[in-house]
Amino acid sequence: MRIDVVTLFPEMFAAVTDCGVTGRAIRQGLAKLVCWNPRDYAEDRHRKVDDRPFGGGPGMLMKTGPLLASLAAAQQQQRGRVVYLSPQGSRLDHEAVERLAKLPKLVLLCGRYQGIDERVIDSAVDEELSLGDFVISGGELAAMALIDAMLRLVPGALGDEDSAENDSFADGLLLGPEYTRPRQIVGKAVPRVLLSGDHEAIRRWRRKQKLGTTWRKRPDLLAGRELSETEQELLHEYRNGKTEN
Ligand SMILES: C[S@@+](CC[C@H](N)C(=O)[O-])C[C@H]1O[C@@H](n2cnc3c(N)ncnc32)[C@H](O)[C@@H]1O
Repeated sequence: MRIDVVTLFPEMFAAVTDCGVTGRAIRQGLAKLVCWNPRDYAEDRHRKVDDRPFGGGPGMLMKTGPLLASLAAAQQQQRGRVVYLSPQGSRLDHEAVERLAKLPKLVLLCGRYQGIDERVIDSAVDEELSLGDFVISGGELAAMALIDAMLRLVPGALGDEDSAENDSFADGLLLGPEYTRPRQIVGKAVPRVLLSGDHEAIRRWRRKQKLGTTWRKRPDLLAGRELSETEQELLHEYRNGKTEN
């Protein structure tokens, strides 16, 4: 997939292009990331990229000319869905990530200052997405979170193809507890079933833990979900403290 980012801080995206899973996916050619800086499209000699809001008030907005020109440049070769990262957008979740990761091209618009002119949103933006109900200083961190989440879903991006499938939310549930060596730390032992070598018992235990963890930490995820008979049974066992330990 190709991701074009309109940002006043392209250097921030080195965190995505140079590091970890995302860096490897980009180096392998599984995704291409191109940044467009509105400052490169500013026409005055100070290369101004902010402007005062009509009607007064504190703060500045992104200057419309350079913003529209950089968006047009990002769309020139191939058009893509434009997502404006904004605290006013719908909450970014696994469903949105899955949907966007399937697109061949995406344009991410990162706001700065007090945001962007409403007419730019109306004319050039297809969708607004938010990281959560709080305000950060710019859309870059939100865009990076979205890019990272999408690239995890691109086949081949993860070393172990299974790991994204096992992640929380992939099947609408949270991942249950996981353990590594040693077998005993801080006075606590690894659940015995995980050492048993009994694959069916481990699979059942993991499924129960997923359901139980989701019920305990995010009951809202279970609210709209129809549980199978086996799932109801497993959750019942979890809630009654019955374990295969
Ligand atoms: C300081 S914020 C502007 C907030 C705006 N004045 C408001 O109250 O809605 C600057 C930019 O950061 C980004 N931003 C801030 N909070 C965000 C969030 N929760 N999710 C995604 N982007 C966010 C947006 O791109 C926004 O244009």
